[in-house]
Amino acid sequence: MQNNNVLQEINELRKKRRAIILAHNYQPGPIQDLADLTGDSLELSRKAKDTDADVIVFCGVRFMAETAAILNPQKIVLLPDLEAGCPMADMITAGDVKRIKEQFPGIPIITYVNSNADVKAESTICCTSANSINVVNSFEEASEVYMAPDQNLAKYTAKHTEKKVHHWNGFCPIHHNLKVEYVHEARKKYPDAVFIAHPECKPEVLDLADGVFSTSGMINYVSESEETFFIIGTEMGLIHTLKKNNPHKTFVPLHESLVCKDMKKITLEKILYSLKNLTPRITVPEPIRQKAQQALDRMLTIKVASGDYRSFSSKLWS
Ligand code: 13P
Ligand code: SF4
Repeated sequence: MQNNNVLQEINELRKKRRAIILAHNYQPGPIQDLADLTGDSLELSRKAKDTDADVIVFCGVRFMAETAAILNPQKIVLLPDLEAGCPMADMITAGDVKRIKEQFPGIPIITYVNSNADVKAESTICCTSANSINVVNSFEEASEVYMAPDQNLAKYTAKHTEKKVHHWNGFCPIHHNLKVEYVHEARKKYPDAVFIAHPECKPEVLDLADGVFSTSGMINYVSESEETFFIIGTEMGLIHTLKKNNPHKTFVPLHESLVCKDMKKITLEKILYSLKNLTPRITVPEPIRQKAQQALDRMLTIKVASGDYRSFSSKLWS
């Protein structure tokens, strides 16, 4: 079917079903353009909680749709491809978190939203790349916290808090594989460019960045910046919106490997199929859902403008 026909059918069905289409910033361009909202994990969680739509079509990976289902048990949450997962989310189990709690009694367990529902259910609170520092610092009485599953987000957060941060050793295969040499090469090729990176990158890569942000934090920063050339240290899908919002600025990915193949599993045809058939549907068993919701709700009470998660090198201030 032609893209135009598919789009038309999607548009008819989304009205009929009273559906909202949410898309992560890494989604393919045509899906971002079609969505009612594109955003980072924090923005999408907030929108999923607040929407009055009957159906949420989640264009992203499984943990994101699961988060929407945890927050909205009464709504139909669809993930157009059930195979769209996040390898990092599968690097820790609920059993692992139970053992961490035995090993570190009384210490808040702060779980990145890139995790499965049963892992969230065992956690004190969730966090995203946009609010991890605020979440950690919200535990005013605690001198130590445990962060899981992303070691790089934990190490980055640790640099911005007085607290001792213990962490699990998970990682995002896409961001974790970025090497310091890639940054040196890109800087040599584009000496006037600003390099911005996602906190899922290794510390040695982040140390070379001019700014560290969640995906929406990057979008906000680039729009506000007077700079015109950016090296992007996160998944390529983000460049679609960056270009759209800033047609006169230039963006290059730090490396060609910055593709999350799970994010690209969602297609327009699969969205149409989901809207027609109200499947594949994401649900979470009620006892797990209730506990996971507590961890997410606690996170959502912490005030932070999305994209506030930023640290700058002096280069950007001077
Ligand atoms: P954001 O919440 O910053 O969009 O990140 C989600 C993610 O999966 C990054 O790899
Ligand atoms: Fe997971 Fe990495 Fe893909 Fe984000 S980019 S969804 S962390 S695999």
